[in-house]
Amino acid sequence: MTTAYEWRGELANDELNILHAEGFEHRVLDDDWCTQLREHSLGWVTARDDGRLVGFVNVIWDGAVHAFVLDTLVPSSHQHNGIATKLVRIAADESRAAGCEWLHVDFEDHLRAFYFDACGFTPTNAGLIALR
Ligand SMILES: CC(C)(COP(=O)(O)OP(=O)(O)OC[C@H]1O[C@@H](n2cnc3c(N)ncnc32)[C@H](O)[C@@H]1OP(=O)(O)O)[C@@H](O)C(=O)NCCC(=O)NCCS
Repeated sequence: MTTAYEWRGELANDELNILHAEGFEHRVLDDDWCTQLREHSLGWVTARDDGRLVGFVNVIWDGAVHAFVLDTLVPSSHQHNGIATKLVRIAADESRAAGCEWLHVDFEDHLRAFYFDACGFTPTNAGLIALR
């Protein structure tokens, strides 16, 4: 099956809520992704197989030169086929085309091979404060 990738592709809230719930192991929420993405993102990348959403990454930004990758997601049924690597490559290309100079990400230890080796991010110091 050919996977179709799209920058700022059409999305329904339900399909992304289901993908997010599977990826981050929580119950299916009722988030309004469409509004959130339209109002706060530089863009996002979708991957579809025969219409089914099989990959997503969100790219937020500072309105200038910094873009940030969030919520890279591929369902377990489609993992280890290079889909997420391609999603991130498109996110990087489109961020560059939009004038960004840096693409950031942070992640848990077990994803080092994915972000560093497969996607080509270089290690840096980053920080996080839990606000709730
Ligand atoms: C992380 C995730 C997006 C990867 O999607 P994917 O399409 O399977 O990734 P790719 O096929 O492009 O992976 C390329 C390589 O990265 C590494 N990799 C991918 N997923 C990995 C994981 N979960 N743990 C460790 N290494 C991983 C592997 O080396 C892989 O090569 P291989 O398939 O030959 O083993 C997917 O596992 C996922 O949705 N996980 C749950 C949600 C999540 O944690 N997202 C990241 C938020 S920061």
